[in-house]
Amino acid sequence: MARNVVISGGGTGIGLAAARLFAGDGDRVLLLGRRAEVLAEAGVAGALTCAADLSDPREVRGVADFVAREFGTVDVLIHSAGGAGYLEPPAESDDPLDAVAHDWTVNFRLNTLTAVLLTEALKERLAEPGGRVLFLSSIAAFRGSGSGAYAAAKAALHPYTHDLARQLGPRAITVNVVAPGYVEDTGFFGDTMDQARRERLIEETSTGRAGTPGDIAATLHFLASHAAGHITSQVIQVNGGAERGH
Ligand SMILES: NC(=O)c1ccc[n+]([C@@H]2O[C@H](COP(=O)([O-])OP(=O)(O)OC[C@H]3O[C@@H](n4cnc5c(N)ncnc54)[C@H](OP(=O)(O)O)[C@@H]3O)[C@@H](O)[C@H]2O)c1
Repeated sequence: MARNVVISGGGTGIGLAAARLFAGDGDRVLLLGRRAEVLAEAGVAGALTCAADLSDPREVRGVADFVAREFGTVDVLIHSAGGAGYLEPPAESDDPLDAVAHDWTVNFRLNTLTAVLLTEALKERLAEPGGRVLFLSSIAAFRGSGSGAYAAAKAALHPYTHDLARQLGPRAITVNVVAPGYVEDTGFFGDTMDQARRERLIEETSTGRAGTPGDIAATLHFLASHAAGHITSQVIQVNGGAERGH
């Protein structure tokens, strides 16, 4: 039976790869992101789109109204919106403490607030039994991210997942996290990735390659399946072994 699938960050990268998989199943897919033109050009057959900044409660209320009108019920909710702030406007001040406050606030808004606000807005619409909530964390949540801001913003999703899984378990809804390592061919790094860093990230894996959006989408697709009905409150790492090291 066709399901209703809501994907934040669905216009690019991992979210887009997931959207293609679910649409390929014949599911009804809604893509969310801030840039309307990116969503419109995503090219997922039959997908609905709704542009919104999911870190803004007012805009999330608008998305919830849209979902109520178009879907009614949400079978699968995937939170792929996020980023490390590479592409966000820089701090307006040169003061080092202002820069720290900016970095941590941007990362919290991009990664934590987007996921929590959208979840809370749609929680009562999740299909029962069988609803699925899936968050995107990162290998950074386990080993840091440089400044710590991105890692902490992702790690915040782990206890939220556990609380939500307890809350929604009685409605036979599962809640899980997928934590990727380095994934290529997404908008995540903008033009900040250089050859040496890329090689170092690949070298950390046991598989000797970068992750692809398809790797992550396949894991999300499995966790959304009927077969994964007894998996909940878990953080599944998909990183070619990089988190364990050699
Ligand atoms: N690529 C990696 O190596 C990697 C590794 C670990 C984890 N991840 C995580 O995987 C997820 C997907 O990332 P990706 O690699 O596919 O990068 P991506 O292509 O940049 O996807 C991120 C998406 O999030 C959307 N987004 C960002 N802020 C938003 C907001 N406030 N409201 C609504 N949408 C917002 C972006 O669209 P707009 O800019 O148009 O809003 C974009 O479509 C992210 O959560 C990322 O942190 C990625």
